[in-house]
Amino acid sequence: MDSAAAGIRNGLFLLEPMPKEIPEMPEPQAICNDVSRSAIFIVATVNGGAEEAATVRSWCGDVAALVRSVGTRAPAGKLSCVCAFASDAWDRLFGAPRPAQLHPFRDIGVGERQALGTPGDFLLHIRADHMDLCFELATQLLGALGDAVTVVDEVHGFRYFDMRDMVGFVDGTENPTGRIADKFTLITDQDPEFAGGSYVIVQKYLHDMEGWNALSVETQERIIGRKKLSDVELDASVKPSRSHSSLTTITDENGDEVKIVRDNMPFGRLGAAEFGTYFIGYARSPSPIEQMLENMFIGRPPGNYDRLLDFSRAVTGGLFFVPSAEMLESLADRDAPAVAAVESKPDTAPTDEPRHQGSLNIGSLKGIPQHE
Ligand code: HEM
Repeated sequence: MDSAAAGIRNGLFLLEPMPKEIPEMPEPQAICNDVSRSAIFIVATVNGGAEEAATVRSWCGDVAALVRSVGTRAPAGKLSCVCAFASDAWDRLFGAPRPAQLHPFRDIGVGERQALGTPGDFLLHIRADHMDLCFELATQLLGALGDAVTVVDEVHGFRYFDMRDMVGFVDGTENPTGRIADKFTLITDQDPEFAGGSYVIVQKYLHDMEGWNALSVETQERIIGRKKLSDVELDASVKPSRSHSSLTTITDENGDEVKIVRDNMPFGRLGAAEFGTYFIGYARSPSPIEQMLENMFIGRPPGNYDRLLDFSRAVTGGLFFVPSAEMLESLADRDAPAVAAVESKPDTAPTDEPRHQGSLNIGSLKGIPQHE
């Protein structure tokens, strides 16, 4: 493989060259949406055995129809949902073929600064302009899954004034949009079977607001790399190389910037003194986000780390694959992977397993398969 085809190693992570054009591909899920005012992030695990796995597979064929059912009632609310699966869960639920770059969350960090993976088989990223829409969709989606899953983390995020995050800075300014966003987030010919898919990394951060607010605005601005009020980037002559914006700016072998699409949301509970930012980043490979995490937590060069982390602690971490909308629907028709079925139900041959057990069976593009 020549270096152009292989990409180069930027730090530890292989950053592949970008495709020149985006070829025809299956319809993606709602990744590069317009900004919404509300969001719910749900990370859940799939319980027990073959029956639960079959319920989740079958449910994949119903997700789009449930989004339509709830969203059509309030079209101006811009309801959307992205559904994504973690590495081990993919193997257990769907087996081969699997997305080429899907792996468990890679722990990155040094000393007290740690980005660690936490349990989670799948992620729901639900967005709308009104929380009632998010809440209703989450209720319908989880209701359809019933006892097959356990929610291990649930965050209700809100947009804070003019796109501010919990630390008071405008968040999302450098996000790519339109076709450029598609270019940076969607899998193309690097993994053709999974074209139209994407990868997503989430982390729930809790802030030490007392410590942060004790800093002068100028110090905060040097930590982030932008002006707090105006959101204007600090001039290169004064912007520290360890600022958040410097450390999360990465380039490929041609010196071109490699971007990701973020949609962070503030959240909090006053009674629990909880003030947080839910980080969510989409990219066509996990590598750019992993590289950014390494720059933030370990430093570029090592030791030159992100001072935002002196006031922000990552308490969850997950890496998930986002199938295209078409593939998500078709996952309902996948047979149970032999190993998972045999492990959990020794007396049942994998081929006997009903494929749509426990599902609403609504909205499948391909109709409902007949059971034996
Ligand atoms: C405590 C959690 C975080 C907070 C509060 C935060 C906040 C911010 C803010 C205020 C900006 C500047 C405005 C903008 O361009 O959006 C920014 C930029 C950015 N952040 Fe974060 N961020 C957090 C975590 C992360 C993480 C974990 C990553 C990636 C692994 C990341 C990647 C980026 C990138 C790529 C940019 C744009 C840099 C540029 O092009 O200038 N952020 N973030």
